[in-house]
Amino acid sequence: MKVCVIGTGYVGATTSVTLAALGHDVVGVDADPRKAELLGRGTLPFFESGLEDLLREMIAAGRLRFTGNGSQAIRDCEVVFTAVGTPSAPDGSADLTAVWEVARQIGRTITDYTVVVNKSTVPVGTGERVEEIVLQELQGRGADVPFDVVSNPEFLREGKALEDALHPDRVVIGAASQRAREVMARLYADVVAPVLWTTVRDAEMIKYASNAFLATKISFVNELARLCERTGADIAQVARGMGMDGRIGQAFLQAGVGYGGSCFPKDVDALLHLARVNGERLGLLESVAEVNRTQTGWYLEKVRRVLGDLAGKRVAVLGLTFKPGTDDIREAPALRILAALLDEGAQVCAYDPQGMAAVRKLVPSVVYASDAYAAMERAEAVLLVTEWQELVELDWQRAFGQVKEGIVFDGRNALDADKMTAAGWRYYGVGKGR
Ligand code: UGA
Repeated sequence: MKVCVIGTGYVGATTSVTLAALGHDVVGVDADPRKAELLGRGTLPFFESGLEDLLREMIAAGRLRFTGNGSQAIRDCEVVFTAVGTPSAPDGSADLTAVWEVARQIGRTITDYTVVVNKSTVPVGTGERVEEIVLQELQGRGADVPFDVVSNPEFLREGKALEDALHPDRVVIGAASQRAREVMARLYADVVAPVLWTTVRDAEMIKYASNAFLATKISFVNELARLCERTGADIAQVARGMGMDGRIGQAFLQAGVGYGGSCFPKDVDALLHLARVNGERLGLLESVAEVNRTQTGWYLEKVRRVLGDLAGKRVAVLGLTFKPGTDDIREAPALRILAALLDEGAQVCAYDPQGMAAVRKLVPSVVYASDAYAAMERAEAVLLVTEWQELVELDWQRAFGQVKEGIVFDGRNALDADKMTAAGWRYYGVGKGR
């Protein structure tokens, strides 16, 4: 099928590549022609494991190209995906400027039946507004072209995007007409996954509800971690025991310094905003956001309790990205931790396998080390903030020989506490009351 994907950011680029891998003829559109050209030459503007290789393969196979000329691409395609950004506006709502602009462009352009599929994360009711805008544009030019608006949210995790796109747990498709459902069924015919057919509004809500629920699991376990520390229990064991109940599940019960990234904080805020404007209050979700906002402060409190005044102390921070396997530092807890340490006069030396270039631009007054051992040289405390495998698997015995004080604050409970203690370290995990 001929498919056009508008917006070639993280979601759009991944969608373009994976639709091409499913055998479709895909054209990715970006308003910035330089970005389109770069992608067309097989270069991804971000890091995602395995994606660049598949991008090149698809371009070479002639199934994928990129352009800055959206109108031509839209006219040629039966299915048009919108995958543009929906950043947070100052009031927490999703800023839909780019979504409306794409809708106008589609209305101005289509000449034949088109399925307009929204992949961007958008508040409930957006699909209907898109439909109105397309209709207005069509009427404006006196055209009577049939079209349908569909909601098909993405559930990709950064770092695992290919796996999630090609082997998803489920495909959610919100579509009102039989004609649109048939087109979408053909589009995903080769994806082996359960498909849930819903209304457009249901599909829009499923996306926010899923992210909000995952964020709730994390904040629940993080809040419980605080109590575990006071009551002599170990949150890792508690979470393991809880997760063995199939109704609860093990996933997303890993206590730590809080969730970050471009999705959870933004989507939780957007859902809270959606509730407010609809006259509801999601008190539970407000607390989820509050626990997350205070989690780095709680972690640093422990650092202060052990080290005392941080002024002049040499602190190594390991892991800066919002999670391992990505170069993304958006809403990364490490940014708040670095800012607080600097504010209190600590001398900070940091290392991350992928995120240093981006963090350096935001926080220039930290010393960035070429590797983790160099970062720990003469340190009086080590803070593990993001659990990169490379960091977890360091030779911690060797590192112990380099630090001034062998104190480690494992912000992700990723290190083996017994082994660390045996190697001489004073080990502080998250929610480990023993
Ligand atoms: C998340 C969702 O998992 C995807 O399903 C969704 O499609 C995506 O947002 C999106 O809306 O686009 P992502 O932001 O890539 O994906 O990251 P996750 O792997 O979900 O992790 C989010 C944050 O939660 C990270 O900071 C991670 O460290 C933290 N986390 C995760 C925990 O603190 N504990 C856990 O047990 C799990």
